Amino acid sequence: MKVNFVKSSSATTGTVVVGVFEESNLGTHVQKFDQQSQGVITKTLQYHNRFKKNVGEFVHISSPNHLSFDRLIVAGLGKKSAFTNLTAENVGGYIFSQLIMVNEKESILILDEFEASDQKQTNINELAAHMAYGAQLKNYRFDKYKSTAKPQDKPILEQLTIVVSDPIAAKKFYEPLEKTLDGIYLTRNLVSEPGNVIYPKSLAESAQFLTQLGVKVEVLGVAEMKKLGMNSLLGVGQGSAHESQLLVMEWPGTDKSAQPVAIIGKGVTFDSGGISIKAAANMEDMKMDMAGAATVIGLMRTLAARKSKARVVGLAGLVENMPSGTAQRPGDVVTSMSGQTIEVINTDAEGRLVLADVLWYCQQRFKPKVMIDLATLTGAIVVALGHHYAGLFSNNQSLVDQLIDASKKVAEPIWHMPLHDHYDKIINSDIADMRNSAGRDAGSITAAHFLQRFVKDTAWAHLDIAGVAWTEKEYPTNPKGATGFGVKLLNRFIMDQYE
Ligand code: BES
Ligand code: MN
Ligand code: ZN
Repeated sequence: MKVNFVKSSSATTGTVVVGVFEESNLGTHVQKFDQQSQGVITKTLQYHNRFKKNVGEFVHISSPNHLSFDRLIVAGLGKKSAFTNLTAENVGGYIFSQLIMVNEKESILILDEFEASDQKQTNINELAAHMAYGAQLKNYRFDKYKSTAKPQDKPILEQLTIVVSDPIAAKKFYEPLEKTLDGIYLTRNLVSEPGNVIYPKSLAESAQFLTQLGVKVEVLGVAEMKKLGMNSLLGVGQGSAHESQLLVMEWPGTDKSAQPVAIIGKGVTFDSGGISIKAAANMEDMKMDMAGAATVIGLMRTLAARKSKARVVGLAGLVENMPSGTAQRPGDVVTSMSGQTIEVINTDAEGRLVLADVLWYCQQRFKPKVMIDLATLTGAIVVALGHHYAGLFSNNQSLVDQLIDASKKVAEPIWHMPLHDHYDKIINSDIADMRNSAGRDAGSITAAHFLQRFVKDTAWAHLDIAGVAWTEKEYPTNPKGATGFGVKLLNRFIMDQYE
């Protein structure tokens, strides 16, 4: 979808969208339309008493009298005093859905309600940019495998034109958001792809194009990882026909010698559970067990596209967890790269085995200032937090504060979960340094403690995104399916703290 910002528009056909705030009168454009049509808008609003002007509410007026265009959509904007960039994104997403519903190809969005408000001009243009951003976030579909779909089954809004007071300013606000969209779309695409298409090598391959944007991309195979002693990661992949990979991406930022920010992703391209095999029901969902890795790749794309000043390294452990004659057995003991030994109680608790070696490798090689991992790590985090918050675990309170601050700004909710010695003891093993599973109690916390045993004195945070990487329900700025959770959050965090 193409987005244009223009100063004025004389729409003659198609659909025009206008907004109304709860507490204010009609804006100047809307008033003009109302007069031209002999009060059709005021009358419609008056008789339409279920329309409370809330965000997400709409009134459609078809072929309004004496107006040249085909349809006028009045969008509720809620309370003017509560209208933020995030509200604008939701409204943009809702408007997009309305336009798709009526199968519109091009539409004009008139924001003069904002001009009638007491908001500053700059703010108005920023809100317009966020509205376009919200529409684009909703404008995502993974339908490449629908070979027989007819065009009418794939409605497309080709162009959205937004009328604002200062189009150049609006465009400036929109540019970095557009770069973020590129990253989010990439993440969503990778997460949506099935396991026969995305496996460790193809996932690593999908990051190669980043070199064109100035990212250094390096891939380690099994032989190299063996030499490094990454037996914890390699154990997970040894039952698969696909070779495990370690993906390393480096964005130099403005100071190549600065200690980097490190972002690490769990990339289990399919998690069958291994010998501790999962039940058949919903096992297909486990194609998304590489969402952490996909988020890191999407984030690197965004950072490079907008030429972030920060030095950022992105790493992803890529494996497929399968049962076979060569698969790891429950009870196996492996020696991780750190030298610590692990008793593999349950081959389905594989994400922590992968991350253990990647966290260690990352610290050895890059000495990061801060290290953040993203992983669809536990079903237990879904039990605890459902599908709204991701779980946040950290050894550093100011990192927690910074992440929560960024999270609120972009509406990707995270909830701080506890770490405590008590939980750490639970993962001790009788025969090795630790075990990879310790029962159901506090499952997400014991998993986080497992990871923490591979963190030296680096400031570290772990985001358990098992409940938020995928959605069965659509949201204003998210269709069903892959969400791309984490790209916005970490992009904002890096912008605020390291640029
Ligand atoms: N990939 C799963 C966790 C998961 C569950 C992700 C639901 C997305 C949605 C992970 O590897 C796993 O299987 N965890 C086990 C751990 C257990 C065996 C200790 C779990 O949560 O059941
Ligand atoms: Mn698993
Ligand atoms: Zn998994």
